[in-house]
Amino acid sequence: MDGNGRWARKRLRPRTFGHHAGQKAVRSTIEFCLRRGITALTLFAFSSENWQRPADEVSALMELFLKALDREVNELHGYGVRIRFIGELSAFAPALAARMNAAMDRTAANTRLELNIAVNYGGRWDITQAAARIARAVQAGEIAVDQIDERRLEPYLCLADQAPIDLFIRTGGEQRLSNFLLWQIAYAEIYFTATLWPDFDAAAFELALADFAGRERRFGKTSAQIAAEAG
Ligand code: IPE
Ligand code: MG
Repeated sequence: MDGNGRWARKRLRPRTFGHHAGQKAVRSTIEFCLRRGITALTLFAFSSENWQRPADEVSALMELFLKALDREVNELHGYGVRIRFIGELSAFAPALAARMNAAMDRTAANTRLELNIAVNYGGRWDITQAAARIARAVQAGEIAVDQIDERRLEPYLCLADQAPIDLFIRTGGEQRLSNFLLWQIAYAEIYFTATLWPDFDAAAFELALADFAGRERRFGKTSAQIAAEAG
């Protein structure tokens, strides 16, 4: 979700104004997923690197998260949304971390939409924490070093229990991944759009889906093999 600051700047307003507008886009994106039958949505809300922003912007963002949690969780729960925060949650203020955990517990049995919110998340952090946890399993004698392969490492990564990611969307015009979900997007289709996040509405999402629908996903195979499999 990139482009909040530039969206505000174009309107000669402070960056936090853009973050407010971005929140509305989050809401409409979740509603779009519910309408369109999309069953998993992962949002990059705050990266491990975002702490380096000016202190007032960081605290404005934290304030926004807190308020959004209080305001939206009830309704999302009513819609059957399961909320999960991925990232290093221990870095957040206790009040915020407690609210995040409460939202996760409360919605844990919901199945209509998996809503994953990445906060203080980094793809390298994810892989590193998985490595540390599997090392602990080795230390405990639960698994031998020689047994470690991709399949055995995977369960330790964030989102391991969810379907592989189909589509990765970055708004705001930059063409980079910025340390989001590195392992998990090995075979995802990547879609870059210049649309700034606050302007990412249903029409913009439809464009991304139409683009995705036109891709041929080969997963390392040939076109002919994929055609044969499709019958
Ligand atoms: C993304 O918008 C929102 C967060 C990272 C929280 P930016 O704040 O990065 O907006 P630009 O890139 O400055 O336009
Ligand atoms: Mg940005």
